[in-house]
Amino acid sequence: MCKKKNRQEREMSCPNVPSFASMGALLFGLCVLSLSPEFAVGITRHYTFNVDYHNVTRLCHTRSILSVNGQFPGPPLVAREGDQVIVKVVNHVTNNVTIHWHGVRQLGSAWADGPAYVTQCPIQTGQTYTYNFTITGQRGTLLWHAHISWLRSTLYGPIIILPKRNESYPYEKPHKEIPIILGEWFNVDPEAVISQALQTGAGPNVSDAYTINGLPGPLYNCSSKDTYKLKVKPGKTYLLRLINAALNDELFFSIANHTLIVVETDAVYLKPFETDTLLIAPGQTLNVLLKTKPSFPNASFFMAASPYFTGSGSFDNSTVAGILEYNHPSHYSASKNLTLFKPTLPLFNATNFVANFTGKFRSLANAKFPANVPQTVDRKFFFTVGLGSNPCPQNTTCQGPNGSKFAASINNVSFALPSIALLQAHFFGKSNGVYTTDFPTQPLVQFNYTGTPPNNTHVSNGTRAVVLRFNTSVELVLQDTSILGAESHPLHLHGFNFFVVGQGFGNYDPNKDPAKFNLVDPVERNTAGVPAGGWLAFRFLSDNPGVWFMHCHLDVHTSWGLRMAWVVLDGPEPNQKLPPPPSDLPKC
Ligand code: C2O
Repeated sequence: MCKKKNRQEREMSCPNVPSFASMGALLFGLCVLSLSPEFAVGITRHYTFNVDYHNVTRLCHTRSILSVNGQFPGPPLVAREGDQVIVKVVNHVTNNVTIHWHGVRQLGSAWADGPAYVTQCPIQTGQTYTYNFTITGQRGTLLWHAHISWLRSTLYGPIIILPKRNESYPYEKPHKEIPIILGEWFNVDPEAVISQALQTGAGPNVSDAYTINGLPGPLYNCSSKDTYKLKVKPGKTYLLRLINAALNDELFFSIANHTLIVVETDAVYLKPFETDTLLIAPGQTLNVLLKTKPSFPNASFFMAASPYFTGSGSFDNSTVAGILEYNHPSHYSASKNLTLFKPTLPLFNATNFVANFTGKFRSLANAKFPANVPQTVDRKFFFTVGLGSNPCPQNTTCQGPNGSKFAASINNVSFALPSIALLQAHFFGKSNGVYTTDFPTQPLVQFNYTGTPPNNTHVSNGTRAVVLRFNTSVELVLQDTSILGAESHPLHLHGFNFFVVGQGFGNYDPNKDPAKFNLVDPVERNTAGVPAGGWLAFRFLSDNPGVWFMHCHLDVHTSWGLRMAWVVLDGPEPNQKLPPPPSDLPKC
C-alpha cells in the first residue's frame, strides 16, 4: 500500500504515526514518498473523502446526516510538517459541498482553501475536486470542515500535524494522543434550521445537544449509551487534541479533579500553562497534557463541556459529558462501585473567567519556534463587528428585532456571497459585478460602540473587499458593538496566522491602548474571540497571495453577514504569485 520511491527516506509512511485510541486506520489510500533532495522534506499523503448520507441516531432521533467515508466525526487527516496532502473529495449527495482545511496556511495554494464562493465554486452532485496543499511551518492540531451553509454541523474531523521526522515535541512525550472533538447535535436538519431563520429573519433554533467525539453523553434524555469514554492508565501523560467543531457555541471544558497543561493552540506551540477549565471557541484547537493520577483512584471522572454566551438571544444551555475511566488493577473487582466526580463549569456568562483565561496565552517564542510579530505596521484597520438588522421585505412579516430581519456586519457591511468564486474573479481580472474593493477601513459613522446602542440598527449589504499588496504588515483592531446585544465573536482569518497583540473591554483607545501591546510573545492563532463589549488587536503579514475570507466562526453570524474578504496581490518573485487554478476546479 505504501510505495517507496526514495531509498533515503525510509519512512514507512502510512502507519508510521503514534497510536491514537480507537483510530486505527489513520492513513488510508495511497501514501507515496516524494522524491526529495539530500534532506528528506516530506512525503505526499493521499486521501479520498467520499461525502455521502449516513443514518445516525442520537437522543432517540434518527437523522440522515452527511458524513465523510461513513464516519462521524469524520476521519482524521494525519501528516507531518512539510508533507504534501492530496485529498480527493467526491460528492455523492444532492447538496453542494466544499471542504475547508481550517488553519492550514495554504501558502501558494489558495485554490485549495475551500470556502464556497470565496476560493471555489462548490462541488456539485456527482462531482469531484482534489485539494492539494503542503503543510509548511505548522505542527499541532487543526480541523477540517465543510464550508458551505451549515453543512459543517456533521462534516468535520481532525487535522493532526506531527513534527517532522526525528523531531520531537517541545514538551513531555505523551503516552497516547487522543482527539477530543466537541460538536453540536440537532434533532432536525440544520439546513432547514438556517434556511427558515434566514427567511423569517428570526434567530435560528438552537441545537439539542453538544457532543464529545459525536456522543452527547448521559446528561441528555435517551443518550446514556452514547457516552464517550476515555480509558487511561495511572501515572501517564496523555495528549488531548481538543477541537471545537460546534456550529454556534464557544464552550467551557473541564475534567473533574484533573489539571490540564495547555501546550499548543491552532497548531502553534505555547508557553505551557496549567488550568482546570478551558474555553474553546468554534474553529479553535488546543493541545493539552493530561497527567493521570499516580495510582488507581477508585473513582471515575466526568469530562464536560457547556456554553459561554453573553448575547440576548436563546442558546443551547446544556452540558455534554464523557467519562475518564482508569483501568482497573487486577485486585479490584470490575463490579466495584466507583465514585463519579463531576467538574464545576463556569456560569454561561462568565466573561471574567474568559478574559482571565485568554490572557494566559503566550507564544513559546524561543529560538527554534520564534514569534515573528510584525514590529512595524504598514496599514491599520479598525473594524466594528456585531449584529444589526435588515428591513422586512414589503408585504411580508418578519420575526427579527422590531419586525425586521437579523443581520450581522463588519463596519456595518453585511457581506453578500457572490454567485461565482471571488478568487476566480480576481485571478481572471473579472471582478466587475462580482465584488468591489472599497471595504471601509474604519466605521463610516462613529459612535460609542459599547455604550447605549444607536436607534438605527440597519446594515448595508454588499460584496466588498480590502486589497493588500504583497508583504504588507497589517494591524487590525476588531471592536465589538452593543447593537442588539454585546457578544463575543470568534473571528477567523483564512490563509494566515495572526498575533493577538492586545485586547480589552469597552472602546479601543488608539492613543492609550497600543502602549500596552505585547510585541514579544503574543499568541499566534487563526481564530480569536473579540471580547463581548470589548476589542481585540492583531497583526499579520500579507505574505500569501489570494483571496482570504475572514468571518465570525459562529455560523449563525457568518450566515447573517459577519464576513469579508482580503485580496492579497502577487509579489514580484515567481514563488510569490498566485498559481493558475487546477484543471478540476469546480464551476458554478
Ligand atoms: Cu473554520 Cu471559514 O472557517
